[in-house]
Amino acid sequence: MCGILGYTGERQASDILLSGLAKLEYRGYDSAGLAVLDGGTIKIAKNKGRLKVLEERIKSGEEISGTCGIGHTRWATHGEPSDINAHPLWSDDMSVVAVHNGIVENYREIKEMLSSHGYGFYSQTDTEAAVKLIDFCYKQEKSPLKAITRAIKQIEGSYCFVMLFRDYPGEVWGVRKDNPLIAGQGQGESFLASDVSAILQDTRQVYYLDNMDIVQLKKGVVRFFDPEGYAKHKELSEVTWDAQAAEKGGFEHFMMKEIHEQARAVKDTFGSVYHSGRIDLNEHGLNDDAIRNISQIYIVACGSAYHAGAVAQYVIEDLAKIPVRIELASEFRYRSMPLDKNALAIIISQSGETADTLAAMRLAKQNGIKTLAIVNVVGSTIAREADSIFYTMAGPEIAVATTKAYSAQLIACYVLAMQFAKVRGTITENYYNSLIAEIQRLPEKIDEILDEKLRLEEIAGRFVNARNAFYLGRNIDYAVAMEGSLKMKEISYLHSEACAAGEMKHGPISLIERGMLVAGVMTQKSLYQKIASNMLEAKSRGGFLLVVASRGCEALKDEADFVFHVPETDEHFTASLSVIPLQLLGYYVAVARKLDVDKPRNLAKSVTVE
Ligand code: F6R
Repeated sequence: MCGILGYTGERQASDILLSGLAKLEYRGYDSAGLAVLDGGTIKIAKNKGRLKVLEERIKSGEEISGTCGIGHTRWATHGEPSDINAHPLWSDDMSVVAVHNGIVENYREIKEMLSSHGYGFYSQTDTEAAVKLIDFCYKQEKSPLKAITRAIKQIEGSYCFVMLFRDYPGEVWGVRKDNPLIAGQGQGESFLASDVSAILQDTRQVYYLDNMDIVQLKKGVVRFFDPEGYAKHKELSEVTWDAQAAEKGGFEHFMMKEIHEQARAVKDTFGSVYHSGRIDLNEHGLNDDAIRNISQIYIVACGSAYHAGAVAQYVIEDLAKIPVRIELASEFRYRSMPLDKNALAIIISQSGETADTLAAMRLAKQNGIKTLAIVNVVGSTIAREADSIFYTMAGPEIAVATTKAYSAQLIACYVLAMQFAKVRGTITENYYNSLIAEIQRLPEKIDEILDEKLRLEEIAGRFVNARNAFYLGRNIDYAVAMEGSLKMKEISYLHSEACAAGEMKHGPISLIERGMLVAGVMTQKSLYQKIASNMLEAKSRGGFLLVVASRGCEALKDEADFVFHVPETDEHFTASLSVIPLQLLGYYVAVARKLDVDKPRNLAKSVTVE
């Protein structure tokens, strides 16, 4: 996820771009850059680091004058944060200069094709391949519109490009697919932005682009085209939100915005390894021989990342039949246990900076164990030190309580499990293909659950004054219960405990009181009746039973106080769906208690101390 801006008008573009980008920094902040088209020349300023580094350079006199330009704040996906990988990126003769948000999935194929036509590449980004493809098409078509329509037919993945063509002074071009882009209409000036918050100080008159719309800006003029290049009419809308609400995409909190970004995080994470109809993990240091030689797996992580690992343990063991140990990093690092040199250590971390997780990874490496890090932040310490990396494509997470990064971690774990199973011959080709199809259906199922979120808001009101809660499950549902319970306690301060349902009667059941929330997760058919009887034990002691179950689960339909059904999916992937209502429940209880949802007390987004 990156922040994108375009401007053309009468004012200095760099001033407009810098102040607009400041509003977009929450979308990405590892590098920043802008390009200004002045007469027939494009000037570029960009660097690794926060926007203020770029601002200081420009304010201290770096020559970048002109009234038409594009800007970018980056959240790296392909290529480390660095000056050269920062956007904008340019074609070799500077005919085309562009900024990009999204992922070009087939960038390797594009690079290969362009290399055979004499193109070279200076960055590690997927974006450069796309910019040069547009340039390649432009050289043949001699028109920005035709170049864009031709290039987008060849680009796979999700994108929003905003472009300058050196031979078209005063014009900015844009196109979007599965990534946001809006156009703003001012007096004698016009704007493009990935988020309306970036242009609200200048105009409230905006156009919302549909997928595959192409847009052309001239001073005060905005024109639209469909993907075939035919002119298209769009209605102007008036934005009524205030600037702060706009930054959160109209949501009250970043957490809710990020909950809604999960379908995209899931799609992009899967899209990053699924190319031309197959999963390819060679770049992740996992060729078939390496996969065959894994004797066992240690998964090491903290907090929610540990909970994603707990799901992975069940999925990998069941699909690939490899023994898996899931370990809390803070325990693993101080335990003296015999470690197996032929094991694979999977390290999971959103930030890539968690002190305990980093120390545990270093310990595994010192013991000669190969490490694979599932990390969200490109260039973070864990990403740099791991033997190989699987980046999740969740984009920057602002809310302290993780949601979309957790969902993306699950996808990375599923992919590993499926690939291990395929290579080791523990599942059939047909089943493997059906798993791929099912992962691809998860985003729409997540959105289907979100359509029903108001039901959870209503029920959350009941727990405003609650003091304790239990979350129960077995197997994968237990792993999800742990995550649901953490979501509840960390943002709503309602004391909550997750319990493997079968353990209730060994002690915790004595805590059940009249009206106490007992949330049960039921997505594994063979365990429906087992969990149902544990839940009924809680009910007979006064518990309020809230059930999150797969559609078709009838157990407890008469006894539960509240049932939320999630769509059916393959049973290995149910965590991706059952966690959504539990995230929403924690969120709504915290909102009902009027708490600071995005910044809960005592917590930090990145835990860099022990
Ligand atoms: C909970 C949460 C934390 C993190 C944990 C690990 O919502 O966000 O429990 O999951 O602190 O952080 P990372 O994944 O950055 O290593």
